[in-house]
Amino acid sequence: MIELAVVGARGRMSRLIIEAINQDKEIHLCAQLSRSDNQDLQQIKFPIDVVIDFTVPATTLEHLAICKERGFKMVIGTTGFSKAEQALIRDAASVIPIVFAPNMSIGVNLSYKLLEIAAEVLNGQADVAILDIHHKHKKDAPSGTALKMAEVIKNVSGAEALSLEISSMRVGEVVGEHSALFVLNGERLEITHKATDRSLFAKGAIHAAKWLVNKKAGLYDMQDVLGLRN
Ligand SMILES: NC(=O)c1ccc[n+]([C@@H]2O[C@H](COP(=O)([O-])OP(=O)(O)OC[C@H]3O[C@@H](n4cnc5c(N)ncnc54)[C@H](OP(=O)(O)O)[C@@H]3O)[C@@H](O)[C@H]2O)c1
Repeated sequence: MIELAVVGARGRMSRLIIEAINQDKEIHLCAQLSRSDNQDLQQIKFPIDVVIDFTVPATTLEHLAICKERGFKMVIGTTGFSKAEQALIRDAASVIPIVFAPNMSIGVNLSYKLLEIAAEVLNGQADVAILDIHHKHKKDAPSGTALKMAEVIKNVSGAEALSLEISSMRVGEVVGEHSALFVLNGERLEITHKATDRSLFAKGAIHAAKWLVNKKAGLYDMQDVLGLRN
């Protein structure tokens, strides 16, 4: 049995993750930790295979330090890290295996591949815009996914050669929508992903946790988990 701990257990995403774990016979929820219950990952005496963390950057980094020290593997879904904070995650991944992905959906991760193809073919000829639309409770903007989409396009096109804008809207209860627009003379290519149910991210996180159990130390993302890496 795979033993999973969920931190930030009262959060919107964590509640869905807990629900999905409880419906899966291959995995067991050995701990659900919440600030309001005053529970602490450090105090846990029993073994944990993977800690799943969808919280806020500062809290994730506290959990990261404990996981690194205690040898717990981690799935990190939290978004909004600075570059320096991302470096801390990379550093910890030299000691423990970590899946770190701003978006756990199959569709979004497939869209990164499509963006690579579009950027390769258009070879810097198009102006590019990325639009991210999310619910009004989301704390970070642009979204981690929008930033990742921009990174994928810039890696292929060359950052300097490219005009790339990101716009974010925070409105209502929109689960998450991302569009990349490649604007050429007389035509426009749009690659769009719309998430309609947040439970898809929970399923992705559990898929990542199961995949991670037998992995060595290293920093992985959903491209690795889904076998989409070249
Ligand atoms: N990777 C993905 O696929 C994906 C998908 C959706 C969302 N996300 C990201 O996951 C994160 C959580 O999203 P969510 O919608 O579940 O948010 P949320 O409902 O606000 O939940 C965050 C939880 O984090 C815990 N927490 C710990 N320290 C905190 C602090 N200082 N301030 C606020 N909360 C704190 C709280 O749980 P307790 O009260 O139980 O401690 C809180 O309920 C965000 O970064 C979001 O962008 C990622």
